[in-house]
Amino acid sequence: MSDFPIILGIESSCDDTGAAIIQDSKILSNIVADQKVHQSYGGVVPELASRAHQQNIVPVVNEALKQAKVELDQLSAIAFTRGPGLLGSLLVGNSFAKSLSMTLDIPLIEVNHMQAHILAHFIDDANESAPEFPFLCLTVSGGHTQIVKVKDYFEMEVLGETLDDAAGEAFDKSGKILGLDYPSGPIIDKLAKDGNPNRFEFPEPKVEGLNFSFSGLKTSILYFIQKEVKSNPNFIEENLNDLCASIQKKIIDILLNKLIQAAEDNQIEHLAIAGGVSANSELRKRLKAIEIEKGWKVYIPKFEYTTDNAAMIAMVGQLKFMNDQFTDIDSKSTSKYTI
Ligand code: KG4
Ligand code: ZN
Repeated sequence: MSDFPIILGIESSCDDTGAAIIQDSKILSNIVADQKVHQSYGGVVPELASRAHQQNIVPVVNEALKQAKVELDQLSAIAFTRGPGLLGSLLVGNSFAKSLSMTLDIPLIEVNHMQAHILAHFIDDANESAPEFPFLCLTVSGGHTQIVKVKDYFEMEVLGETLDDAAGEAFDKSGKILGLDYPSGPIIDKLAKDGNPNRFEFPEPKVEGLNFSFSGLKTSILYFIQKEVKSNPNFIEENLNDLCASIQKKIIDILLNKLIQAAEDNQIEHLAIAGGVSANSELRKRLKAIEIEKGWKVYIPKFEYTTDNAAMIAMVGQLKFMNDQFTDIDSKSTSKYTI
């Protein structure tokens, strides 16, 4: 093994327990234990999430070390998600990382989860080439929707964000109205492939500047479905693929209209996407089309680095390790953490 530092990354901000090992920007292992326990509740139950993290964290870290063929005494530092996220879930990763760093007597590095989604692009095999600064990143997840101007690794400016629901929530809540399981984003993505995106038209929210709003869309979908189901109780089943395709199209229209506006306003032609919703196949396809049509450069990360994962935490850990940006043992988890 080379002399490059070996960093263990730990992610526990929501409902996925992750551990990953990085060396020289290459991911040696990336383990995620997702929590099926929330499916029947239609959303993440915070108390159940923190309990499941407690059960998962030791086996997940052990598996990450095993797959990477790394022994504990070879680790150079431990990076963990400080926030934003669910406080109880964050605390599990935070306490585990602190105890391990004290036991091994190696540095501790705190990581901002939203920065990590963006900086995942710098993992060696995340995409064909790393983005050039400055670039704009559309970060779309279950908890956040942001357009971020990335001037350097740790110099970021939020140009716009959601005023209410996140893009992932718009997928998940629409899916709930249609009777789909949680998380509905990937299910809608799949069903939409066989649907007509122009069959049903939903209103575009009127929000000034580069901010987003998705709660009006959710309400209009709810009222529309309630009205149709009254006259035809089988309306959802008979039109499921078209409903998914039309809802997906509207969410993507809202996201891309603002991203294009941000690129034009800021004269930045390098665009990236990040976060769970960036796994969406139609969003990826439409971005590729924009790249060709406008002659811009678009960075789309590998699937395993889109939804919550520890590889992105380990990547930030490595960047901070190189800059001697270490964390005190009294670092506190925080549910809100701006970038
Ligand atoms: O980044 P992430 O794993 O967790 C958060 O930090 O929130 O994002 C999860 C979100 C969920 O809302 C999920 O429905 C959505 O990402 N998602 C998708 C797809 N895969 C995951 N949404 C649309 N299409 C997908 N293929
Ligand atoms: Zn996330």
